[in-house]
Amino acid sequence: DWTMAAYKDQQIKAIREQVGDGKVICGLSGGVDSAVAAVLIHEAIGEQLTCVFVDHGLMRANEAEQVVGLFRGHYNIPLVHVDAEEQFLGGLEGVTDPEKKRKFIGGAFIDIFEKEAKAIGGADFLAQGTLYPDVIESVSFTGGPSVTIKSHHNVGGLPERMNMKLVEPLRELFKDEVRELGRELGLPDAFVGRHPFPGPGLAIRIPGEVTKERCDILRKADAIYLDEIRKAGLYDAIWQAFAVLLPVRTVGVMGDARTYDSVCGLRAVTSVDGMTADVYPFESQFLQNVATRIINEVQGINRVVYDYTSKPPGTIEWE
Ligand code: XMP
Repeated sequence: DWTMAAYKDQQIKAIREQVGDGKVICGLSGGVDSAVAAVLIHEAIGEQLTCVFVDHGLMRANEAEQVVGLFRGHYNIPLVHVDAEEQFLGGLEGVTDPEKKRKFIGGAFIDIFEKEAKAIGGADFLAQGTLYPDVIESVSFTGGPSVTIKSHHNVGGLPERMNMKLVEPLRELFKDEVRELGRELGLPDAFVGRHPFPGPGLAIRIPGEVTKERCDILRKADAIYLDEIRKAGLYDAIWQAFAVLLPVRTVGVMGDARTYDSVCGLRAVTSVDGMTADVYPFESQFLQNVATRIINEVQGINRVVYDYTSKPPGTIEWE
């Protein structure tokens, strides 16, 4: 009989065998996957694990605090909090191509992990919360020729110059299974039930150039959208909901003044594994309320649109 409890024990054993008495660095992204990987590895090898949370400045509102709080408050896992906003935003300056953004971000993560590995006197392994769908979607497109749709930030292996090997205990799992494993490991329900958040963060939700100013605008709009979704009791019925900030300005009118500001797109989908997705059918009144709040409360946005594209042909993220 296959059970998640048995899977957990089997993975713990496999991690111990792979790691021996080596040291492991685990990158925490703020999402569920890397948190589950970290807690699992901690159960397996305890103090041989150091977690590194890279705050790239591309997190949603309050995200960094939540992740650091969970790990420092509930677990006794050593956690290094790296403030890398300048490094990431600096490197993204002038970059508009989606794959260039993804490649830069993936590389910057690796550079930081390498530096932190040195800081703890060398690490033999780098752990990541890579899932099965991340692996599939980064290498080929189901049914068609081998084409990269998106380079997931944590897929593609490590540069050859690095001496670290990868530990990826979730590589065979789908999202719903990761959540079950998280519960099995005792992670709080509210944390395990969080919507997926991509490693490259808000950078791939800001088509065009990413700047701190645009990240701040998007964070505000996104927080209002999710606040309304929670208040309406819809959070758990949705696989993923988020705002995007478009590099398009349109004319509007506020009071008796002309505005010329950015367009905000809203996305919400249902899905089982992220490989395919359907548009979440909000009531029109709900979307109108969200749009009104965003336009009234967020300076820099004067128009809100809803994305009616399923996957395929769209992807969930816009880049
Ligand atoms: P797409 O946009 O490819 O996304 O339909 C499918 C799921 O994967 C998430 N995603 C990522 N997760 N690193 C991640 O950790 C990435 O580079 C990445 N790109 C997309 C996306 O949020 C959705 O849940």
